[in-house]
Amino acid sequence: MRLQRLVVASKNPDKIREVEAVLEGLAQHVEIVRGLDWPEVEETEPTLEGNALLKARAVKSATGIASVADDTGLEVDALAGAPGVFTARYSGPDATYASNVAKLLADLEGVDERTARFRTAVALVDDDGDEVVVEGVLEGVISTERRGAGGFGYDPIFEVDGVTLAEMDPAQKNQISHRARALQALAPALRTRGRANSDGDLSRQ
Ligand code: IMP
Repeated sequence: MRLQRLVVASKNPDKIREVEAVLEGLAQHVEIVRGLDWPEVEETEPTLEGNALLKARAVKSATGIASVADDTGLEVDALAGAPGVFTARYSGPDATYASNVAKLLADLEGVDERTARFRTAVALVDDDGDEVVVEGVLEGVISTERRGAGGFGYDPIFEVDGVTLAEMDPAQKNQISHRARALQALAPALRTRGRANSDGDLSRQ
């Protein structure tokens, strides 16, 4: 149960920026290791938790460093919870942020019930291979048009209290986001592992 250094298991710079910003506030004793590479991890599991764990395990195994991974889905009530685990590829195999947003706006054209939520699963695999999986949820509404230039992905059309995530500054988004909430749920596990290090727990080295 140890953890001194951590790799953020993502190749998406938008996601890495947010995870690092939140972790820096939550787990100062953990050094985030940057600049490593690993083979692409295919998200083949049917759940967000499964895919987050798949990525964290693969990156821990490729780098030898404890790893934290997130997998995020957008659940739209009028679409019976879709796109969910398929959020990244909603508009097809060559999906971009813009094409996904355009498809969702088109699919909800004329629809009044626009409630939705972001759900993020975060998985940690620590130095000993012990695993922790947690979740964070952000409730909101899909707007009828894009607003704001910040954030990424579906942020320009995801509103919380009338403001899209793309209209918020990064610190505001990181205070309320699904990703931040999941990482906050991970904080006790990070603290316990940090304590094991600083207490000089050498029993499992
Ligand atoms: P994944 O977790 O990388 O599989 O992301 C799933 C999809 O959700 C991708 O299309 C991302 O662009 C989008 N996404 C993930 N996190 C966010 C977010 O915080 N805001 C908006 N879109 C996001």
